[in-house]
Amino acid sequence: MTLLVLGIETSCDDTSVAVVADGRTVLSSVFASQVAVHAPFGGVVPELASRSHLEALPGTLDEALRLAGVGLPQLDGIAVTYGPGLVGSLLVGVMAAKGLAAGLGRPLVGVNHLQAHLAACLVADPTLDPPFLGLVVSGGHTELVRVEDLDRFRLVGATRDDAAGEVLDKVGRLLGLPFPAGRWIEEEAHRGDPDRVRLPRPFLGERLEFSFSGLKTAVSLLARAGLHRREDLCAALQGVLVEVLVRKCEQALGQCDAEVLTVAGGVAANGALRSGLAAMAARLGVRLVVPSRELCTDNAAMVACLGSARLSRGLVSPLTLSAEPSLSIEVN
Ligand code: KG4
Ligand code: ZN
Repeated sequence: MTLLVLGIETSCDDTSVAVVADGRTVLSSVFASQVAVHAPFGGVVPELASRSHLEALPGTLDEALRLAGVGLPQLDGIAVTYGPGLVGSLLVGVMAAKGLAAGLGRPLVGVNHLQAHLAACLVADPTLDPPFLGLVVSGGHTELVRVEDLDRFRLVGATRDDAAGEVLDKVGRLLGLPFPAGRWIEEEAHRGDPDRVRLPRPFLGERLEFSFSGLKTAVSLLARAGLHRREDLCAALQGVLVEVLVRKCEQALGQCDAEVLTVAGGVAANGALRSGLAAMAARLGVRLVVPSRELCTDNAAMVACLGSARLSRGLVSPLTLSAEPSLSIEVN
């Protein structure tokens, strides 16, 4: 019998609801973007984000069920992101999920947003199973994780300061690009020449760590000085980020003796990063799994996917589940 799980994702500024069958097949994945709400402020305004989730969630839920051709009573479980993220935003999703679970008499499964990003790779490649090495690279996180099993995520490396997406967003703002700037920096970079700008390359030797704050300061100073073309700065910044991320993944594959690499999170939507990783994986003979761009950025399909895996193992959450804004990637 098919396992039908509803996923709800409201950790930051995207309201998303999805229906996933048997943990791998996405029947629907619906988004309500808040980009227009936050654009005038150049970043996510937490209070506006939670209010917008409240407004958007009922319609997003109806649409996800309609597109999937599934009625509420047919659902086998409700999965929801309970952390990390903005507390007000998380609470909207968690409360809605608890209401649905209690009302329908179905199990509730609280899901870690960072783990869910990596679970998106299971949807991308239905033949993929742990163990594998994963890189989560998003607006708030840059982490290397060994996924031993779908309930055992081991952190092997992280950023000491800024996340890769944070650097892109902050520099993008200085350069007058819309928020979130990652995809606009990628567009600018297509037209730019990375060799016209000299930037530091924070490799940190063999350590499985990242440090991007110095790079951010260097690009920011150059952006303020106004001596370089915007497209050249974007090309140079993207080039350094890709080089560092690819090299760290290569080191982690060697140090963890892993044969499969997966990449997820919003920055994994970047074309230069995807091709840099593909070239490295081909050279090493390593299997690389990168989800589609839609599955890389925040989405509820990844939440329903991991929730299904948990549900089939009987790992469900109590109705006392609450939001955990600072949840570590290792905590289920
Ligand atoms: O995973 P995500 O949607 O939200 C978080 O959990 O943070 O990631 C958002 C991040 C932002 O920093 C955004 O600028 C970046 O992903 N991003 C990109 C691209 N698309 C989104 N970065 C580089 N290239 C892209 N095409
Ligand atoms: Zn995310």
